[in-house]
Order: sequence, then structure tokens, then C-alpha cells
Amino acid sequence: MGAPRGARLCLLLLLAGVTLWLLLCGRGRATQPAPKASLLQQRTLRLVPGGMSQVAGSHGLSRESSINRGKLSKYSGPGKAKPTKDQPSSCPHSLTLKVKADPRFGKLFRFHIPVLMWGWHFTPETWDRLKERSVPYGWQGLSYTAIASTLHLLNDSSNSWLFNKAWFPDGCVRCAVVGNGGILNGSRQGKAIDAHDFVFRLNGAVIKGFEDDVGTKTSFYGFTVNTMKNSLIAYRQYGFTQIPQSKDLRYILIPSDMRDYVMLKSAILGSPVQDGYDKGDEPRTYFGPEASAKKFKLLHPDFIHYLTARFLRSEILNTEFGYLYMPSTGALMLLTALHTCDQVSAYGFITDNYREFSDHYYEREKKPLVFYANHDMLLEAELWKSLHRAGIMKLYQR
Ligand SMILES: *[C@@H]1O[C@H](CO)[C@@H](O)[C@H](O)[C@H]1NC(C)=O
Ligand SMILES: *[C@@H]1O[C@H](CO)[C@@H](O)[C@H](O)[C@H]1NC(C)=O
Repeated sequence: MGAPRGARLCLLLLLAGVTLWLLLCGRGRATQPAPKASLLQQRTLRLVPGGMSQVAGSHGLSRESSINRGKLSKYSGPGKAKPTKDQPSSCPHSLTLKVKADPRFGKLFRFHIPVLMWGWHFTPETWDRLKERSVPYGWQGLSYTAIASTLHLLNDSSNSWLFNKAWFPDGCVRCAVVGNGGILNGSRQGKAIDAHDFVFRLNGAVIKGFEDDVGTKTSFYGFTVNTMKNSLIAYRQYGFTQIPQSKDLRYILIPSDMRDYVMLKSAILGSPVQDGYDKGDEPRTYFGPEASAKKFKLLHPDFIHYLTARFLRSEILNTEFGYLYMPSTGALMLLTALHTCDQVSAYGFITDNYREFSDHYYEREKKPLVFYANHDMLLEAELWKSLHRAGIMKLYQR
């Protein structure tokens, strides 16, 4: 990967614990909006408001073991609802065909794995399997009753799919996934982005003032409670004062911590968060007044496990900081789209020439990309480049 080498070395040094506090290698992407000094905070300062608590989890269990230990679990849920991909696609150019024809990716993709978790998946078998893996790959250390009470609310069939392929009788569902990378500043891609059937956005997705570059349509907004709240703090100065809301918008929640399940339950019930990290929060201030079960999609821990093990198994997992690692929000959204849409275009994701651009498209002065130790942006960059080269998706580059 040429240039990124230095950055990788830097990251490893970091991980070795040389400079825990200042992660200055420079990068970040459609992902953690948290303050730079996030690594150590994640480990120890779980209670610092607005700090990066995304991964730590009070259980402090090793994610590495979750990924490196078991084989990829066979999916064995009741499977009442069909994952989107099981709905036959009549699209003659579906990316599934490109995937199947590709020697490398044909072996990696497993389109039958459910992307979303919903109430019907919550069975004794699922509990037994997932309680062995730490978040976000499972439910180790989490309360059965808390998980159960959240998942029982996700009982609408729309919780089982991202969209219904029956809405597209003549074929191809085209999706744009919009990361927040500086490459979009001045790109004038807004019209092209909005022309897709569905537009995914995530974290600090500033739109006002950047319509020409990033478009206005938002079909799905992806986040963890941690990244969402951090985005509201870190990007407020750029106008990100509210989580995107509209009647047709759906939220894709990444369950990276107990607080995600707790927030989801409150959001659906329309009541303040009862306990835990976000106690007292009013979900409607984030998701608007009409939040109901239909508004929310929950990524399946098995799916996050599968993506991490097969597509983004970073070297970080083999370090003592392995438990901090997970794919970035942007990566999870893009891979979600790749497992549900027929055609996918990625905008605002990291490219080889990322040094030419600011961290985010909305910064007023150029800031270098911030690399956080809980993600492996260079590994993600390689993946996007390979998927683009294989013709499986289109990566916006300039
Ligand atoms: C879904 O859950 C809600 C809340 O518990 C309940 O009122 C509703 O009847 C359930 N619907 C189905 C189809 O089970
Ligand atoms: C964004 O683009 C504008 C004009 O295209 C430029 O003036 C500005 O410096 C850019 N912002 C950053 C952070 O690079």
C-alpha cells in the first residue's frame, strides 16, 4: 500500500503502547468522531462523557478471542424472515454475479448470513451462541433480560430487512454509501448520490451547505450510540446539530455495547433511557417524535463477526489492543450495502491519495486524516480498492 506504510508502522508503535495518549499518525474516516486521545479513554475512562467508550464495555473481554476463537458460526436461527439477499434478484447486473465470478471474493462473501437481527432470531440457541462472544460480535457479559426486552420489540417484519425487493419489480436496487471523507469537498457528486434508490449516511453526516457535493437524500443513517453522540459534540461546529430525521429515513444501529440495546429499547418505547451510560436521555431528541420499531434496523452480531473475520481481520486483533478493534462505522455500512443492494457506489471513503484531502469534507481548513487505533483504515482502504478493481462496487476517487 505504498505511502500508508509509515502510517501502519506508526499505528503499530502506538499499539505497542509507546504513545497511548496522542494518536497523531493522522487519519480517520467515515467513522469515529471522537477526540483523538481516544485509545486510552476507551480502555479506562469509560465514564467520561463524550469520551470514546465505544468498545470498552465494562466486561472488558477480549474481542480477539471472539474473532480468533470460534469458527464462523453457522447461522442457525429460526430464519422466519428472509434476509434481503434471499429474495431473488431479477437484476441482470447484480453485484452477486460479479462476486461469484471473482476468485477471491467468491470465497469470502456469504450472502445467506442475515444482516439484521430481529425478534424472531432471539431463541435459546441464539442466546447460547452469542453469549460466548463479546460485543459487537455477541452478548458476552450482557443481561439476558435486557437483550430479550429489546429484541422482543423488534417484532415487525420490516425489522428483518433493509428494504423490500418487491418494491423493485424490474430489478436493480442501486445504493450509495456516503462516508464523510474530505475527498467529497468540491466533488459536486450530490446529484449522482441522490440518483441512487437508497443513500446510506453515517456519524457526522453534515448536509447543509454541502448539498452540491454530498446530496440531500438519506435513506439509512448508521451509527452506534457512542459514535452518534460523539458526532453531535465533535461536528457541532460544522453544523451537525441533529441526527438526520425524516419520515422515510431508517436508522441502522450497530450494537457495539450494551448501551446500544438500552437506547434502542427506549427509542421504540418513546421513553427516557432508564439506566446505564445514557440514563435520562430522551431518544426523541435524536430520532424525532415518531420513532417506532419500524424506524430501526439492528445489525446482527453474527454479521459483524462474519465481516470482521472474513473481510477486515486486522493485525490489531493480535495485539494487546485487540479488544478495542472493530470495523469502522463506514466500513460496516458499506459492507451492509454490499450484502443487500444490487449495485453499490461508495463516496467519501478512504482512497490511496487520502493525504491530498482533509479528514472530513466539511472542515474549513485542511486537517490530516486521523487514524484511530480501534480501526484499521489502511486495511479498509485496501478492501475498497480491491472491491472496486473487481468491479463489485464503484469507489469514488479523484
Ligand atoms: C410487537 O410488540 C409490541 C410491543 O410489545 C406488541 O404490542 C405487538 O402486539 C407485537 N406485535 C406482534 C406482531 O407480535
Ligand atoms: C474545500 O474546497 C474549497 C473550494 O473547493 C476550498 O476553498 C477549501 O479550502 C476546501 N476545504 C478544505 C478543508 O480542504
